[in-house]
Amino acid sequence: MKTEIIRVDLSRLYDSINDIKNAAEIIRAGGLVAFPTETVYGLGGDGTSSDAARKIYAAKGRPSDNPLIIHIAEPSDAEKYTYTNDTYYKLAERFMPGPLTVVLRARDSVPSATRGGLSTVAVRCPEHPVANLLIKYAGVPIAAPSANLSGSPSPTTASHVIDDMQGRIEAIIDGGDCDIGLESTIVKIEDHGTMTLLRPGRITIDELSEIAPVIIADAVTDRLGEGQVALSPGMKYRHYAPTSPLVLLDGEIEDAVEYIRSESFSNIAVLCYTEQRGYVAEQLPDADIFVLGAALDVNEQAHHLFAILRDADKLDYTKIYAPLPSKVGVGLALYNRMIRAAAHTIIKLRQE
Ligand code: TXA
Ligand code: MG
Repeated sequence: MKTEIIRVDLSRLYDSINDIKNAAEIIRAGGLVAFPTETVYGLGGDGTSSDAARKIYAAKGRPSDNPLIIHIAEPSDAEKYTYTNDTYYKLAERFMPGPLTVVLRARDSVPSATRGGLSTVAVRCPEHPVANLLIKYAGVPIAAPSANLSGSPSPTTASHVIDDMQGRIEAIIDGGDCDIGLESTIVKIEDHGTMTLLRPGRITIDELSEIAPVIIADAVTDRLGEGQVALSPGMKYRHYAPTSPLVLLDGEIEDAVEYIRSESFSNIAVLCYTEQRGYVAEQLPDADIFVLGAALDVNEQAHHLFAILRDADKLDYTKIYAPLPSKVGVGLALYNRMIRAAAHTIIKLRQE
């Protein structure tokens, strides 16, 4: 299949209206289009079509029991596909459009294939103008997982999508870099009005707690035990896994450097914060250094993480070392992605 690349200049969106309409037409006709959102790129198909869902699973190489998020243009469109409640509208008023996905009981209008056979469905109303227009012009909700091959980091630029999806889908809309760089926060609204956090993201537990009490699913911070059931099917699969082993170092940079030296591997990569770059370069002159962002700017770190993991992956390091993020605020989202990428390999260094 030839994949059409559609370039959209966000500062002159009006010039691209016809291109976005054509992309929407591909989706209406049953094809797949990757598109930018404020979180990561999505791989979109008609959310009301089982065939489109099957094509999405095939293009990603994703197991078909791992359900898709359906993307809507207006929060109230959730009525057509789910049974909403007060908590949903409170969340919508505060966080939509935006990087929040809400799991609700599904109506029959969403095919079982789209929901991976579950009785619930995840809905999200993205803020990105290209995503919003694409959904509007398609006239159907857009089922979209992240537009990566299953097991590789979510794509945050069109070139990541091209690397993974060229030849597998009809079109890719290139709208530049995704602002946030990590996937949306996912909450499940329970019948009694509380919420379960299934995946942390830019919208934090503190923010969500202002709407209703939040319980954190075990798999957000821990490895699932033998026989333990994942509340979100995606949590049971290995994710974002670089081919080189990633090790997370929990402690001060001086101790991290000492640990890395003691392992004495050659051909290694070290992820660090902007302020640490000079020190790491001086102490570990043979290591390749990737800068996540300023130590206190978790949003900047989130924006860079997946691109760094992809770049590092191409270079076949013996080992990649990275700092263990804190679990505070947006840090929890970084922590969640990084412990999965590291397959839970955390080294506790000397503590103060
Ligand atoms: O930011 C995002 O959410 C991006 C953009 C494209 O919107 N999408 C995304 O989709 O990350 P995906 O499929 O890569 O991740 C969605 C996660 C999966 O782990 C899936 O298992 C979970 O959401 N999920 C989907 N429907 C669910 C449901 N009904 N109940 C529980 N978990 C669900
Ligand atoms: Mg994904």
